[in-house]
Amino acid sequence: MNTSYLEQYDATADTDKFALVRRWIDTEPLPFFKELREKRPILVTPKCTLVTRFDDVREILLMYKVFTVKPYVPKMANYLMMHDDDALHTREKSLMQFMLNRDDLPKVRNMVADIARGILSRGSGQIEIVNDFCRTVPATLVQKYFGLTGAKTADLIEWSYWNQYDTFHNHPFDLLSPELSQQVIDRHNETSKKLGSYITMLIGKRYLAVLAEKLTFSTIIKLRDDIVTRMLRTNFAKELDFDIKRLGTNAGGLLIGAIETTSQAVAQILQYLFQHPEWLATAKEAAQKEDTAEFDGIVWEALRFVPITPYLFRTTASDYTAAKGTDHETILHAGTYVLPVTLSAMFDERAFDSPEKFIPQRNWYNYFHFGFGDHECLGRYVGMVMIPEMVRQVLLKKNIAAQGNIDYRSGPFPESYNLSWTAE
Ligand code: HEM
Repeated sequence: MNTSYLEQYDATADTDKFALVRRWIDTEPLPFFKELREKRPILVTPKCTLVTRFDDVREILLMYKVFTVKPYVPKMANYLMMHDDDALHTREKSLMQFMLNRDDLPKVRNMVADIARGILSRGSGQIEIVNDFCRTVPATLVQKYFGLTGAKTADLIEWSYWNQYDTFHNHPFDLLSPELSQQVIDRHNETSKKLGSYITMLIGKRYLAVLAEKLTFSTIIKLRDDIVTRMLRTNFAKELDFDIKRLGTNAGGLLIGAIETTSQAVAQILQYLFQHPEWLATAKEAAQKEDTAEFDGIVWEALRFVPITPYLFRTTASDYTAAKGTDHETILHAGTYVLPVTLSAMFDERAFDSPEKFIPQRNWYNYFHFGFGDHECLGRYVGMVMIPEMVRQVLLKKNIAAQGNIDYRSGPFPESYNLSWTAE
C-alpha cells in the first residue's frame, strides 16, 4: 500500500472512520499498528480509542477503577470477571486460584496428552481438527479435571461458544449488524438458561454425593478428585459469602473460560506453524524431547503473531491523561471505550527486540496471551500446559500436513480446519 493508513484515516469522513479502522484491524493489523506506534500511538476514533504502545497498554490495564470492565456487565450474571478490584473479585478469584492447585499441573498435562492422543489415534489419518480436537480436548478436561460431568460434550462446547461470542465479540466496536448482534445475544441467553439448569443439577447431585462420602468417612463412598468436588468438600465460613450459588457460578465460569479460548489458540498456532515450514520443522523436532521447555517457547512465540484477540477493551470511568509527559499524551474521556491493543504491544520494539522476527524463548512476562493486571486469566496455568501439549500431540503425527487454511465462516472463531497424516 502506498499511502499511509493515517493519511487515509484523516481524509475519511468521521462517520466512516471507524469502519476503516475495523477493516485494518481485521485484515492487516501488524502494518497498521506499526504505523500507529510510530506516528499516533493513541488513536482517538469516533467509536473508541486505540492504545498501541507496550507501556501505555500496561498503564491502562493497571488502572482498574479508571479503565473498568463495564462492557462485561450486561453479559455476565454477577461473575467475578465483571467486578473491578472489589471484595467479591479478590475473594472469589483467590479462592478459585487456590482450588486450581498448581501442583496439579504435571497431572493435568498428562491428562491432556492422553485425551489428545486418544482422539488422534481414532482419526485414521484425517481429522477436522477444530470440532473434533481443538474444542473436544478442553471440553473433556472440563469434565475430567474441573468435574463438570453429566452433560454432553457437544453441549459444553455450545455453551462456551455463545457466551464467548457475545462477551468478547459483540460490542459496538465489533460492528456486527443489528440483526446478527441480537441473534448472538439471543443464543447466549438461551444457552445460559441451559447452563444454569445444568449447574443446579450438577451441584445438587455432587453435594449429596459429598455428604454421603462424609457420612461414611470415605469408607463406602470415595469420590474422584476434581475441582467441583474440592469446592464442595471445603467448608467456608459464612463471612466469606461463598454459598452454594456462588460456588455454582464459579463452576460455570471454569467451563466458559476453557473451551473456545483454547480451541482458537491451538488452531491458530497450528496454522501459523504449517504456514512457516522452517518453524514447523524445529517444532516437530522439539516435540520429540522429554523436556517440553523448548517446544513450549515455540508455541508462545507463534501465538504472539496470531493471538486469540488483538486487543482487550475497557470503559473509561473518569477523565484520564494517558502517556502523561510524552509527546503523545492524550486525554481519555469518561464514558468512552478504550482498546489496549495487546497485539500491537507485543510488536513494540521498546519491549521486544526485532519484533518482526520469530524468536522462541522470549521473556514470558512481556506476552499478553492471558491478559495483564487484575483480570489476568484465572485459568492461565492450566492453559499454559493444555495449549502446548495439544499442539505437541498433533505435531507428533507422522507427515502431519494441513489441507488448506482455517475456515472462520465469517465469524470470530475458527470453525473448521482439515489435517492429514500417515496413519501408523
Ligand atoms: C483453561 C481454562 C480457562 C479458564 C478457566 C479461564 C478463565 C478466565 C477468567 C475467570 C478470567 C477473568 C479473570 C478476572 O477477571 O480476574 C479470564 C481472563 C482472561 N483469559 Fe482466561 N480462562 C481459561 C483459558 C484461557 C485461554 C486458553 C486464554 C488464551 C489463550 C485465555 C485468555 C484470557 C484473557 C486474555 C483474559 C483477560 C481478559 C481481560 O482482561 O479482560 N483464557 N480467564
